[in-house]
Amino acid sequence: MDFNDENINPKYIQNIWHKNFAKWRIFNASFEQHPSQSLKECDSLIYRMIENNIETLLSIGLLSAGFELRASYFYNQFDKNLKIVGIDPNPTKYVQEVKEFVESEYGFHFNVIKDKSENVVFENNDMVFIDGDHHYKCVKSDFEKAIKIANKMIAFHDITTTVKEGASANDPKIFWKEIKNSYKHEEFKHPEALKNLIYGIGVIYL
Ligand SMILES: C[S@@+](CC[C@H](N)C(=O)[O-])C[C@H]1O[C@@H](n2cnc3c(N)ncnc32)[C@H](O)[C@@H]1O
Repeated sequence: MDFNDENINPKYIQNIWHKNFAKWRIFNASFEQHPSQSLKECDSLIYRMIENNIETLLSIGLLSAGFELRASYFYNQFDKNLKIVGIDPNPTKYVQEVKEFVESEYGFHFNVIKDKSENVVFENNDMVFIDGDHHYKCVKSDFEKAIKIANKMIAFHDITTTVKEGASANDPKIFWKEIKNSYKHEEFKHPEALKNLIYGIGVIYL
């Protein structure tokens, strides 16, 4: 499928996903295989990744690799390749399953580093997705490392999240506000997610 097809936009991407949802049964499709994100925001990010020819992704904070699975799925639909390095000290059991699936079905590489991002030397990648430890100092440290090695995009999750005072889940939003205006940037804030004051994805373009 040609990504430049005029019909292709985030909405179209979602339609493909829904049409093929049955495929996810092979994973005993459960909540965990979905990205822990607003799917509409997530799909907008994936759309931008494909549009910007992101071929290598460093993903900080995998949880169940729902985002990596979804991105791989769409990349494969558009005959694109994705090489993923994921960092997480506590990935769920699904991460190995997703890794094996994207490697065997799509021929992608998915290297999982079981450690905290602060202990890992970041290699050059087209994009870094920051969604690991949400404490301010960790988000800042992930960003400071990412900006040195990212070629095209750095994305942050939780740029709208507003939970009870003192929770670290609010910190990415604080950090994002501090840096976003220094870069060409874009925000994905879906009304449904915004209504509940959760999620939100911010991207800077390098
Ligand atoms: C909100 S979840 C990530 C959700 C995932 N990106 C998705 O879209 O489904 C946060 C993850 O970050 C991981 N994490 C916590 N501290 C971390 C650190 N210092 N470095 C990397 N990952 C970390 C947690 O184990 C958890 O799986």
